[in-house]
Amino acid sequence: QSFFKPIQGASPQSPTSQITKITVVGVGNVGMAIAQTILTQGIADEIALVDVNVDKLRGEMLDLQHAAAFLPRTKISASIDYSNTTGSDLVIVTAGARQITGESRLNLLQRNLALFSKVIPPLAAKSPDTIFLIVSNPVDVLTYVAWKLSGFPSNRVMGSGTNLDSSRFRFLIADHLDLNAQDVQAYIVGEHGDSSVALWSSISVGGVPILSFLERQQIAYEKQTLEKIHKKVVESAYEVISLKGYTSWAIGYSVASLARTILRDQRSIHPVSVLAKGFHGIDGGEPFLSLPAQLGRNGVLGVTNVNLTEEEATQLRVSARTILEVQAQLGI
Ligand code: NAI
Ligand code: 2OP
Repeated sequence: QSFFKPIQGASPQSPTSQITKITVVGVGNVGMAIAQTILTQGIADEIALVDVNVDKLRGEMLDLQHAAAFLPRTKISASIDYSNTTGSDLVIVTAGARQITGESRLNLLQRNLALFSKVIPPLAAKSPDTIFLIVSNPVDVLTYVAWKLSGFPSNRVMGSGTNLDSSRFRFLIADHLDLNAQDVQAYIVGEHGDSSVALWSSISVGGVPILSFLERQQIAYEKQTLEKIHKKVVESAYEVISLKGYTSWAIGYSVASLARTILRDQRSIHPVSVLAKGFHGIDGGEPFLSLPAQLGRNGVLGVTNVNLTEEEATQLRVSARTILEVQAQLGI
């Protein structure tokens, strides 16, 4: 006996094709920050959680479900069985080892490579039309690994990349100039990590290129100050990890913003890790690294033709080489 009686002439089945389903793999600090941000922003109709830790998985599912009265309606399920992820529109992978204080992201590769070879094939098999959004570190190399293991076209495999670094960059510039970070357009590209590249030449604040803005505001423009800001971006994660053990809130918002753009076909530009072969003179392999890309329901729709100075292009190619050297050791 149903609680509601159908009105006359109504179909008993509600359409399922419009349901938006996101799978989040890994319910650690990062997976849960992402899941809860997606939930509060009402981006998905269904969130499927996956982890190997059965108790933690069920505990996290129940804890989120218990907030239902305060949130947009979203079905939350959890299982160690990949069948539960079937038909996902977006699969976000956060499972894996994280850095300890002072450890680099690249150092995590061997541990997380083994994990990816276990999780990517079944996820791809259960959702053959999905888009993969990789978050586990080292994110650029693991995005390449996910691309290879899934056999998906490159537009349907991306990494969260420097979307987070760019947010840190925008915050620090805004803080320096005492304005709103949302008015700062600025990109960090390349590796999500130590060899990332700040695109100073294309930064604008309220539509004004930053270098002339600084001159107009009579704020002393010192290259050193700008370099210090970029250095701070690179050091951000190390600092947070040394203070609280992990990073979570900023990556949660960063990935939720990507999920919204993709699933709602917003066609916004985000710096994310994409197959960068052929861009800005990057050749000699198939590196995934971050470039400003337009995203939508079909994944990566294209990469913006941003003008780089010779110095920026050189730094980007150095970043690509760093990633390629690591990829060369993978044997896949
Ligand atoms: P965590 O240790 O809190 O969580 C990792 C989770 O993965 C655990 O719940 C664990 O049980 C699960 N897991 C392990 N093996 C699994 C498997 N085979 N299948 C499913 N789940 C499995 O770690 P945290 O802090 O959540 O970090 C996760 C990853 O995200 C790390 O690699 C970290 O470096 C990365 N990260 C990436 C960021 C980025 O900007 N790309 C930002 C912050 C973290
Ligand atoms: C971050 O940048 C650790 O990659 C992680 O927060």
